[in-house]
Amino acid sequence: MTTTERPPLPAQRPAPRQLPWWRFGLSGKLLLLTVLFLMFAEIAIYVPSIANFRLNWLRDRLASAHTAALVLDAAPSGMVPEGLTRQILDSVGARAVAMKTGTQRRLLAARDMPPAVDHDVDIRTMTSWQAISEAFALLTSGPGIMRVVGPAPAGGQFLEVVLDETPLRVAMLRFSANILLLSLVISAITAALVYLALHYLFVRPMRRITANLMAFHEDPESPTRIIAPSARRDEMGLAERELAALQRDLVSMLHQKNRLAALGLAVSKINHDLRNLLASAQLISDQLAGVSDARVQRFAPKLVRTLERAVAYCQSTLSYGRAQEAPPQRRLIAVDAVVREVREQLEIASHGEETAPPQVTWVNVIERGLMVDADPDHLFRILLNLARNARQALEALDHTDALPRQIRVTGRREGAVTIIELSDTGPGVPDKARAHLFEAFQGSARSGGTGLGLAIAAELVRAHDGEIRLVEGTIGATFRVAIPDRPVELRAARERAKA
Ligand SMILES: Nc1ncnc2c1ncn2[C@@H]1O[C@H](COP(=O)(O)OP(=O)(O)O)[C@@H](O)[C@H]1O
Ligand SMILES: [Mg+2]
Repeated sequence: MTTTERPPLPAQRPAPRQLPWWRFGLSGKLLLLTVLFLMFAEIAIYVPSIANFRLNWLRDRLASAHTAALVLDAAPSGMVPEGLTRQILDSVGARAVAMKTGTQRRLLAARDMPPAVDHDVDIRTMTSWQAISEAFALLTSGPGIMRVVGPAPAGGQFLEVVLDETPLRVAMLRFSANILLLSLVISAITAALVYLALHYLFVRPMRRITANLMAFHEDPESPTRIIAPSARRDEMGLAERELAALQRDLVSMLHQKNRLAALGLAVSKINHDLRNLLASAQLISDQLAGVSDARVQRFAPKLVRTLERAVAYCQSTLSYGRAQEAPPQRRLIAVDAVVREVREQLEIASHGEETAPPQVTWVNVIERGLMVDADPDHLFRILLNLARNARQALEALDHTDALPRQIRVTGRREGAVTIIELSDTGPGVPDKARAHLFEAFQGSARSGGTGLGLAIAAELVRAHDGEIRLVEGTIGATFRVAIPDRPVELRAARERAKA
């Protein structure tokens, strides 16, 4: 009992239904990225603003110091009581205030002068880069004593204040903490909004498509698994509609394939039984040939031959349905040896036909020593199919015609390709056969033909990466087979050369 093979089911691979918990899904990644980008933006804003905060703070101090300087300057020297000076300086937050007017630099007030000044800051010549780096230096290192020099309004040349850095640092830290808090709030709100938007616009439909793909993969023949596209008009909607169309096509194609496979199975069953019936008929007709009646003698051989052909027909159809051609075992072989074998095979087959076939001459035009990189058995079958067709075409010619009956085989190399052409002087391929020449069961224009010969030849040639075609514009029919050499695997060739 033979069966045609059902088309192989798509490979079943275990589909992960859910992402493992430690892997971020699309939405998690988006959320993380949003927060990261926002933080980055906040840092870009924070750096200049902290420097600016420090500068403003210092300018404030300078302004207050200026007011204090004016007050102290206005009073005659020594007239301001010690306690008041201290109070004024405390309110400014300064340890000392000095002003330069004209050529003299005057210390206006000082309270227990510090031993040394740690940092000198001149607001008049400060660059942005300096402002930023000094701000961060203060934040990261401990506070000390600083001298700030700024422009003095109203006649003064400059104003100097000696300050403790601690209050400035505390203010800057508070400012930073506020900014950090604000950034966190802003990024949380923005990230949530971005996340929600992306989730509804993008992630959710994506999940729907993914789930549908997985469900479809499980049962690609079921039309109920086809995705129902939403009414969206953006790319996502387009993707859904295209997916639905693709799935519909696939479902109907699979249905058709299944039906064809079932049909093929039925045909092969019929064929199988038919072949057995024909074989019994053959046995009976063989006995008929032994009957001495003259009329029986006339018809019996024809009957036997017809039955033989019918059996061969069934046989070839059956073996085509069953055969999975093995991949070619390629090696270098001599072309003329294969051609000789084909010729011998054909001549053996033509023996025993009682009407002597008209003489067919063979012409070999094969380059001396021509080799081809092919499977010898496959090449034999390719050429045998072509030669058999040629001979059948020649035999179909009118027997009384004195036309030359010739089969001509030429072989040559073109670069890395071996070309073999088989031509005959027959009537040429009829138009009816040309349309589906290399398609199984469709190319035959001959009564009793299966239309398998050229289909099989083409399949075998293709397995060699080669090409077979009918050459146009010749007397009779010419088929051209081109078989390229296998590409040389460089490394293997080198190793072989080394060994
Ligand atoms: N050399 C040829 N000359 C004329 N017709 C040909 C030749 N080779 C093939 N054909 C046509 O192509 C058809 C298909 O050939 P093939 O696939 O071998 O099937 P089959 O021989 O079973 O009919 C043939 O029926 C015939 O009509
Ligand atoms: Mg044939």
